Amino acid sequence: MKLKQLEGYIGNLNQFSNPKIDLEQYPTGAHIASRLLYTAENTFGDISGKVVADFGCGCGTLGIAGALLGAEHVVGIDIDSQSLEIASLNAADLELDINLIWCDIKNLKWRGKIVDTVVMNPPFGTRKKGSDMDFLFMALKVASQAVYSLHKTTTRDHVRRAALRDFNAKSAEVLCELRFDVSQLYKYHKKKEVDIAVDLWRFVP
Ligand SMILES: C[S@@+](CC[C@H](N)C(=O)[O-])C[C@H]1O[C@@H](n2cnc3c(N)ncnc32)[C@H](O)[C@@H]1O
Repeated sequence: MKLKQLEGYIGNLNQFSNPKIDLEQYPTGAHIASRLLYTAENTFGDISGKVVADFGCGCGTLGIAGALLGAEHVVGIDIDSQSLEIASLNAADLELDINLIWCDIKNLKWRGKIVDTVVMNPPFGTRKKGSDMDFLFMALKVASQAVYSLHKTTTRDHVRRAALRDFNAKSAEVLCELRFDVSQLYKYHKKKEVDIAVDLWRFVP
């Protein structure tokens, strides 16, 4: 599938109808999501034929993109059941078969390296300190091949240190720096658009 085609499919997905601030629910835009998955597949071969998990899947964007790129099996996990309902409808609209699990990522009881690849846009940890690291810890624990994740650029040193030193990652590489547009999602944002500098990381567990 071509990049533009993938971006088109993702752009048509339904997103959070009533985003919950405390869960940092902002969707990954079609531009970023399609490039994240496309790079994972075409540069590193981490998607097609692989078991892919989407942590904090929300409405299913990243996992669905993985399924469209030929993942053998996709599982999405989120703490919010309403988002999972939307994810389920999004997948059904595209006739994709993905599994969805209602679970707090901290309580995931998977043992060993149960998936090949984790893709995620975790909470940045601005509402609940450390939630970004909870996601990264769990992703590196269960993935055998690679973890793709978005983190605020301001936390780059912290993320690298945690991955390599605390979570035993073999490598932690910033693939590119992006502008994440959290536009008007939350009423407390005074500006119409809020651009946040975000790193796209690839970790090898
Ligand atoms: C930034 S949104 C990303 C949503 C979606 N993955 C996307 O890319 O559009 C973060 C997601 O993490 C979920 N989340 C927050 N805390 C969580 C937790 N402790 N366990 C599981 N999911 C959580 C939220 O409900 C939300 O869907």
